[in-house]
Amino acid sequence: MKFIEVENYEKLSRIASGIICAQVIVKPCSVLGLATGSSPLGTYKNMIEAYENGDVDFSKVKSVNLDEYVGLTGDHEQSYRRFMNDNLFSKINIPMEETHVPNGCATDIEKEGKDYDALIKSLGGIDLQLLGIGLDGHIGFNEPDSFFTAGTHKVELDESTIEANARFFQSKDEVPRFAITMGMEGIMQAKKVLLIANGAAKKEIVEKAFYGPITPEVPASILQLHPDLTVIYSKN
Ligand code: F6R
Repeated sequence: MKFIEVENYEKLSRIASGIICAQVIVKPCSVLGLATGSSPLGTYKNMIEAYENGDVDFSKVKSVNLDEYVGLTGDHEQSYRRFMNDNLFSKINIPMEETHVPNGCATDIEKEGKDYDALIKSLGGIDLQLLGIGLDGHIGFNEPDSFFTAGTHKVELDESTIEANARFFQSKDEVPRFAITMGMEGIMQAKKVLLIANGAAKKEIVEKAFYGPITPEVPASILQLHPDLTVIYSKN
């Protein structure tokens, strides 16, 4: 594991973007695993700038996102599909049809999970997976549990996750209770994993996840077993 601590969010975002852009420059047809939430916003901003400056071309890139709320259509303001379209996809030259987000409105969510895993396999797996981390140690929406789940699956969100995500909705009651998330197999099979975390509030969980015991009670701790993991943390 490479653990990089930097002084602020701006630097974290520039470094993370640099790592992702370097991946695409070296392998233009990369499959990028992408995340939503506030952590990657600065990274995406820097990736857009790199694209606008002509430093990187995303035209051959394919992407798979980690997760989606169950019950939100792709055009819902708070859906993760909409987040990705607004904050990245519509601002770079990745072909929209090559961007994938689990369908939270699928009638059969279990089948959607299996199909999503088959899709990732058919793309040849993920070259680089970008991750954030929840205050309870979740990655994707793999919440603390007594076991790790391998495939893409439906999860019930923890109360702390609902509370943390309520800031994006009008009220806490509007936050969906369920999500569909890539499981640990999809994440762990990525060739490279890049996890970004910022803020003093995340210090404790970052320490637990990367310097504590490997346990499904702290889902991100499984990443300690990944052969090519980079963690970037900034306190501010
Ligand atoms: C989002 C995701 C989540 C977030 C995590 C941290 O696709 O998978 O695991 O990365 O909840 O969220 P922020 O970055 O908003 O603190």
